Amino acid sequence: MNSIQRHFASDNNAGICAEAWAALAEANTGHAPSYGDDAWTTRATDLIRDVFETNCEVFFVFNGTAANSLALASLCHSYHSILCHELAHVETDECGAPEFCSHGTKVLLIPGLNGKIDPASIETMVKKRTDIHYPKPRVVSLTQATEVGTVYTPEEIRAVCRMAKKHELSVYMDGARLANAVASLGVAPRELTWQAGVDALCLGGTKNGAAVGEAIVFFHKPAAFEFDYRCKQAGQLCSKMRFISAPWVGVLQDGAWLRHAAHANAMAARLEAGLRDLPGVRLLFPRQANAVFAELPGAVAEGLRQKGWRFYTFIGAGGGRFMCAWDTQESDVDRFLTDLRNFLPTPSPEAPSGGVPSRSDHP
Ligand SMILES: Cc1ncc(COP(=O)(O)O)c(C=O)c1O
Repeated sequence: MNSIQRHFASDNNAGICAEAWAALAEANTGHAPSYGDDAWTTRATDLIRDVFETNCEVFFVFNGTAANSLALASLCHSYHSILCHELAHVETDECGAPEFCSHGTKVLLIPGLNGKIDPASIETMVKKRTDIHYPKPRVVSLTQATEVGTVYTPEEIRAVCRMAKKHELSVYMDGARLANAVASLGVAPRELTWQAGVDALCLGGTKNGAAVGEAIVFFHKPAAFEFDYRCKQAGQLCSKMRFISAPWVGVLQDGAWLRHAAHANAMAARLEAGLRDLPGVRLLFPRQANAVFAELPGAVAEGLRQKGWRFYTFIGAGGGRFMCAWDTQESDVDRFLTDLRNFLPTPSPEAPSGGVPSRSDHP
């Protein structure tokens, strides 16, 4: 068996954190009302309202694709369009679910540096066409932290929201890793969401210590109208809801959600520091959350894979994605870096400046 316990493939490769596990065990006693009418779901909802310091509407679903797709569908009609970054998960990794769940809403792609939407391109896309033949833009979807491991500052989110509101668009946030962004920026969750103008949010649990389950949070409450029916119709209303909501109580009640996110971010920072300045290795994006993107020489990536390390190379804009999780250990990072260094070519004595090979030596 592979002796490597924890990888850098995804934060959803990690297990369940102790706080979520303990809450699950506690919830696993006796009978409780089904479909969300239980005390755990009420408590989890209240805790989410406390975290965001507002009286929002909260729903729990099984996964992020459903959360994004159903929430987006509730913010538009089928003849509308959703504007998102060209690397957004809703575009690249949801198999067309946002279009499917909204019965045909078109996803329009806009560019932007470091995985972030450029507010000016929202306007460009809206003004590109205003005739009846064009799917009318209605929602902007942004991802926090982004798919390339960067984070939007509160001011950047406000700028996106200002532009969206100027054109009567709602703003949705895919917060699969919102916890990592909050921990990274050290700001109140409200500053990154409703105070900045975000109407609805997917708050990710799976990547931060839960087994399963994301929370959909509507700050603009009218958008939540009959959302429970939408969830039910889509097969996303869990009958034993307490087992989705209890872990939220576990991670939210004493701040574990942010501790875990801060830890994952710190592990990514350690990895980034170790990769910096290694010959042939190129960091691709500023590391601001729990992911490091780096281009490795092909032979090095192959060697690491053969040694048993797992990481993706098809996500974002190419290169390797090295994702840290709540349970990543310093020793995991150090061992990975040691293995990586061992695959780097030994400098030849006569080569200038230590014989560092150029990147072109390693396709
Ligand atoms: C940015 C982002 N959004 C949403 C998701 C949710 O995906 P899933 O449907 O696998 O829970 C992911 C998972 O990788 C993600 O990275």
